[in-house]
Amino acid sequence: MKVVVFGSTGNTGIELLKQALERGHRVLAFARDPGQIALSSPRLETLRGDVLDRAAVANAVSGAEVAISVLGVRLGHPPGTVRSKGTENIIAALTAAKVPRFISVSTIGVGDSQQRLSFVARAFLPRIIGAERLREAQEQEAITVRSKLEWTILRPPRLLDRPGTGHYRLGTDLRTGMRTQLHRADLARALLDQMASSAFLRQCPSVIN
Ligand SMILES: NC(=O)c1ccc[n+]([C@@H]2O[C@H](COP(=O)([O-])OP(=O)(O)OC[C@H]3O[C@@H](n4cnc5c(N)ncnc54)[C@H](OP(=O)(O)O)[C@@H]3O)[C@@H](O)[C@H]2O)c1
Repeated sequence: MKVVVFGSTGNTGIELLKQALERGHRVLAFARDPGQIALSSPRLETLRGDVLDRAAVANAVSGAEVAISVLGVRLGHPPGTVRSKGTENIIAALTAAKVPRFISVSTIGVGDSQQRLSFVARAFLPRIIGAERLREAQEQEAITVRSKLEWTILRPPRLLDRPGTGHYRLGTDLRTGMRTQLHRADLARALLDQMASSAFLRQCPSVIN
């Protein structure tokens, strides 16, 4: 399949590109600085652009069969509106180009996943993640849910840069706590698995190791 990846230079993004290519997909990596992508394959194309630029995003999705977004702002930086406005631009572009499938990443602690946090996590997670960052993730989810696309939003816990285990749990009933975590390579695997699955269509499952 031809997949367009937003957030392709991030820690999850690079892993996603690698695994998508290993699976034989054609990949378009949308990035502010494609020079950060040290991968080469005849099936990998890069496109320079900012997700806040509507025209650039529209250009990126043309010809794609599915879009995956792992957009974010690195911890320690103000969250801004990349996740909300960026997602709005991606959805507008996908809708206009009639590309129905959109798979993205939010975070545990948003929406109904909050009710399945342990007592301690419910008290501390909002402080660790930050209220502004949580609001951005909520807004990103709300924009996606309102769309007419065939969306799936995966909600991971704390992400770790460790080799993939090859195993993850995905579900809308998973309970999580302060120690729940996920290797980024397993998040990438879970996102790519969604391309061939409609099990969580228009749902927001949590994904954990
Ligand atoms: N860190 C955690 O423990 C954790 C936990 C739960 C959920 N999450 C969520 O999981 C997702 C992936 O996390 P991650 O840590 O792998 O991501 P990350 O390393 O922070 O990467 C974020 C990506 O978004 C891109 N980006 C930011 N602003 C952009 C813009 N205006 N235009 C185009 N691209 C832009 C970045 O590009 P540049 O290289 O140009 O900056 C980068 O490629 C994020 O949505 C994050 O919020 C993270």
